[in-house]
Amino acid sequence: MRPIIAPSVLASDFANLQSEVEMLNNSQADWLHIDIMDGRFVPNISFGFPVMEAIKRHAQKPMDVHLMIVEPELYIERFRDAGADTISVHIEACTHLHRTVQQIKATGAKAGIAVNPHTSVQLLEDVIADVDMVCLMSVNPGFGGQKFIENTYRKIENLKNLIIQRNSQALIEIDGGVNQDNAPLLLEKGADALVAGSFVFSSPDPLQTIADLKAVK
Ligand code: DX5
Ligand code: ZN
Repeated sequence: MRPIIAPSVLASDFANLQSEVEMLNNSQADWLHIDIMDGRFVPNISFGFPVMEAIKRHAQKPMDVHLMIVEPELYIERFRDAGADTISVHIEACTHLHRTVQQIKATGAKAGIAVNPHTSVQLLEDVIADVDMVCLMSVNPGFGGQKFIENTYRKIENLKNLIIQRNSQALIEIDGGVNQDNAPLLLEKGADALVAGSFVFSSPDPLQTIADLKAVK
């Protein structure tokens, strides 16, 4: 199956957000990946509701919202109202993860769990059957343009096994440092969706870069 491609708007030109979103509308991208950072869960602040709503006004594709914030349960409904189709919360940020997953699903959004590079996917054992997606971080969250962490391949294998064992429908999304070189092995190991920020937006021809990623087998 061809991969789901989710360009990260974080790497786009914020001064020309409308044209960046229109470029994604015209591309082979499947989703728009929206990175929300609070300066507490991660040492960086990205953007919040007003910017997300502005993106939503122009976006013709689903919005895949990655919350890198503490206490995400306080804002789930607002992110849904702002246009989120999938909402991913970090396992490291949720004391009552099962409850937060149900809270996301109650809004009608798909529920994802994001997992930092140091966190074992085995911790998902008792919740994997309830989620629509696991976002495996292949960099430490907080910044675009970082180097891909090679241990991610092993984590995909472990996660894939867990998903099969538990009869889960969860998709595996890879986030951070994804490019044309590592995409083939990520897919071979079992990834379903690839997030790409700087690789897409720093390329001379983002439309072609997205098409090339989409064509990876
Ligand atoms: C990192 C974000 C990623 C990031 C990916 O904290 O969650 O989604 O934007 O950017 P690249 O592809 O440049 O690593
Ligand atoms: Zn992200």
